[in-house]
Amino acid sequence: MAKIAVVFWSGTGNTEKMAECILEGLKAGGAEAELFNVADFSADKMGDYDKIAFGCPAMGAEELEPDEFEPFFASVEGDLMGRPVALFGSYEWADGEWMDLWVERTKAAGADLFETGLMIYDHPDEEGQAKCKAFGERFAK
Ligand SMILES: Cc1cc2nc3c(=O)[nH]c(=O)nc-3n(C[C@H](O)[C@H](O)[C@H](O)COP(=O)(O)O)c2cc1C
Repeated sequence: MAKIAVVFWSGTGNTEKMAECILEGLKAGGAEAELFNVADFSADKMGDYDKIAFGCPAMGAEELEPDEFEPFFASVEGDLMGRPVALFGSYEWADGEWMDLWVERTKAAGADLFETGLMIYDHPDEEGQAKCKAFGERFAK
């Protein structure tokens, strides 16, 4: 059984809802999965998991959230080589460039990126929640 961490930052709850639905999907897919607010996770926990899903909305100007998530991601970037990683997050103002940049950065770090990043506009509605759950189920396999 794969052990998977879902590590997210969310300001207004949209990415948090995505994270909860992905967690549900991971469990439905047979993984042992745990949810962490990024403030409660650190680089030294990376080795405890077979796969990691990172969640962060578009912030700044098509950037990761600068105060907590960006420094955290920079701290684990050197440890992504060969690791199965999934990316997800919510956006609202533009067309998802932050995810393209994040995907490129994650690939450049050598991660084994799962599909492409999952983006949901604003708060995930029922259809968005189902997409998140299905994403989690596929990542669990
Ligand atoms: C400071 C700030 C910067 C943002 N920058 C962007 C951006 O560059 N591109 C974008 O599409 N949305 C941007 N947004 C919108 C958020 O990505 C969107 O509201 C998202 O749903 C928030 O997710 P959360 O509820 O998980 O915090 C920004 C929002 C804030 C508050």
